[in-house]
Formats: sequence, structure tokens, C-alpha cells
Amino acid sequence: MTLTTETHSAVLAAIVEGCASLGFEMSCDLVTGQLLRTLAASRPGGRILELGTGAGASTSWLLSGMDADTTLLSVEQDPVVAAVAAAHLGADRRLDLRVGDGAELIDALAGHRFDLIFADTWPGKFHHLDQALGLLAPGGVYLVDDLLPQRTWPTDHARAVRELLDRLTTDPRLHTTYLDCSTGLLLATRH
Ligand SMILES: C[S@@+](CC[C@H](N)C(=O)[O-])C[C@H]1O[C@@H](n2cnc3c(N)ncnc32)[C@H](O)[C@@H]1O
Repeated sequence: MTLTTETHSAVLAAIVEGCASLGFEMSCDLVTGQLLRTLAASRPGGRILELGTGAGASTSWLLSGMDADTTLLSVEQDPVVAAVAAAHLGADRRLDLRVGDGAELIDALAGHRFDLIFADTWPGKFHHLDQALGLLAPGGVYLVDDLLPQRTWPTDHARAVRELLDRLTTDPRLHTTYLDCSTGLLLATRH
């Protein structure tokens, strides 16, 4: 069943309930979700890649903005949280949900092109960054969140975030905009 803007609220509420029962607290917030939906809607017929499905909150926002011809490939390493996403979103034929390591998927996708990449886990953000950026089509958009200090950050993560910001904002392939809202976002377009 195709998720739409009309059915999205109920689906998201069910995912949020699933997250609460698992104690999963890493889903994107409302502002990032709305931005994902806006970006997804700007790419009719596009190809979208999500690294770190989590329980499917961000996936649901992306699906709610996508048209019938847009496809979304999303990967999550943890089968328990991935099962929540699959239960609520798995029937949507535009979505290809994978359970596995995002780094392996990035490597396997070499040569493919995506119009939008939401990098919300380690691979494609803190490692395998160049490979992930290599998957961006010209004009493609890359988005990362969680750039402002979070209580879930591991020790020394602030340095890794600074290095990530340095790398992205000095990459000659990209135009970047830092958005000081939500959890701290960086939006980049490959030119
Ligand atoms: C920030 S959460 C994703 C939240 C989700 N995008 C959302 O906003 O609803 C990051 C996710 O990445 C997953 N993860 C960690 N390492 C991974 C890897 N190597 N490959 C794929 N997923 C990974 C974690 O299990 C976690 O669910």
C-alpha cells in the first residue's frame, strides 16, 4: 500500500509507538521529517537512498513526499528496529528495505546514481563519505542531521562532527548550507 500525505500521520504515530516500546530514541524530529518530505517531493521520478532506516520515521516522511515513480532504497543494520519499519512501511512498492551494513551497500552501489541521499548513520557520514558522495547524481542532494551536540553522542564525537563539516564544506563538488535548526543539519548539492 502506498503511503500518502493523508495516511502519513497514522503510520508515523504507529512507528513512534513501536519506537517507544523498543526504547529507540534516534528517530528524526518534525523539522527534519518535514524537510525530508519537501526534498523528496522535489524529485519526481527520482531515486532516493537512506542510510540508517532506524524504525522508519524518516523513511515514512520521505515516502509521504515521493510521487508514484520515485523509489527509495533504505538500509538498517539492526534487525529489531528494521522490523518496525518493515511492519509499517514494507507494503509500499516504492520502498526497498534492506537489513545489513550500510558500508557494504554503499560499496555494492558503486556506479549507481541517486537524486537524494539522507545519510543518518556511520557509513556515508563518518566513513565511506567519499563513496556515498560519489553516488550523488549531478544536482543531487545530500543531507545529514545530528550535527549539534546530542546526549546520545559517544565520547569524542564532537571532533568527528567538526571533521565531517570541514570535509563537506570544502568539497569542491558540493554547494553546502548549514541549517542551524532541528538537530543541526547540513544540506549539500552536487554541482
Ligand atoms: C539515527 S538512527 C536512524 C534514524 C532514522 N533515520 C530516523 O530518523 O527515523 C541510526 C541508525 O543506524 C543504524 N546503524 C548503525 N550502524 C549501521 C550500519 N553500519 N549500517 C546500517 N545501519 C546502521 C542504527 O541501528 C540506527 O538505527
